[in-house]
Amino acid sequence: MPKAVLFDLDGVIVDTAKHHYIAWRALASELGFEFTEQDNERLKGVSRMDSLNILLEVGGLALPEDEKQQLAAKKNDQYVKAIKQMDETEILPGVTAFLTALKAAGISFALGSASKNAPIILNQIGLYDAFDAIVDGNVIEKAKPDPEVFLKGAELLGVAPEACVVFEDAQAGIEAGKNAGMYVIGVGDPEVLTGADDYVSDLSEMTLDRLAH
Ligand code: BG6
Ligand code: MG
Repeated sequence: MPKAVLFDLDGVIVDTAKHHYIAWRALASELGFEFTEQDNERLKGVSRMDSLNILLEVGGLALPEDEKQQLAAKKNDQYVKAIKQMDETEILPGVTAFLTALKAAGISFALGSASKNAPIILNQIGLYDAFDAIVDGNVIEKAKPDPEVFLKGAELLGVAPEACVVFEDAQAGIEAGKNAGMYVIGVGDPEVLTGADDYVSDLSEMTLDRLAH
C-alpha cells in the first residue's frame, strides 16, 4: 500500500477552470480578441505567467514585461473575487469520501498545486486543515512538468517518492508525477491525458484497493 497521496487542486479537488476561463476571457476581450474554451484547455496546470503568455500568443500580441505583470494582476483580481464566492458544494464528486478513507487508513496526503491561490480555495471549501502538508505556487520555483512540487510534498510528509501516488488532471502534472518517480493516476479522459499509470473520471471511482495497485 502507498504511504502517501499527493493531490493536484484545480480539476482534481475543485473545478476552478471555469473561473480561470471567465477571467482570462474578459482580459482577452479588453485586449480586443476572442479566447475560446478550447484555448483555455491549454492553460490547465500551467503557471499564471505562462498562461498569460499563451493567451497573448493566441491574440498575436507581444507586450513588455511590466505590462504583462499588470495584466496578470488584473486577471488575478477578477479570479480571486470569483473564488471567494466558492464553498464546500464545489468540492468535486468523491473527494470528501476518499480523503476520509485515507485518514482512516493512516495514509497521509498533501496538496501539490501550481496555484498561488490554493490557500484561499482550500479555506473557502473547508479543506485547508484536512491536508497534512500544502505545496503550492507560492513555494515552488519550477513549474510542472518539473517534479519539484511533488518531491517537496513527499519530503514534507517524510515519505519516499516511490511510496507516493499522485492525482492529476493536467498533462504537465502527470509528467511531473512521473518525473518524481511516483505512481500517477490521471483524472480525466485517457484519450486526452497520456502517460499515467491508471485513470479515473473523478475520485468517486477511487477505493483503497485501487490505490494499492
Ligand atoms: C493551476 C491551474 O492549478 O494553477 C492553472 O491548473 C493556473 O490553470 C495555475 O494557471 C496558477 O494559478 P494561480 O491561481 O496562481 O493564478
Ligand atoms: Mg489541475
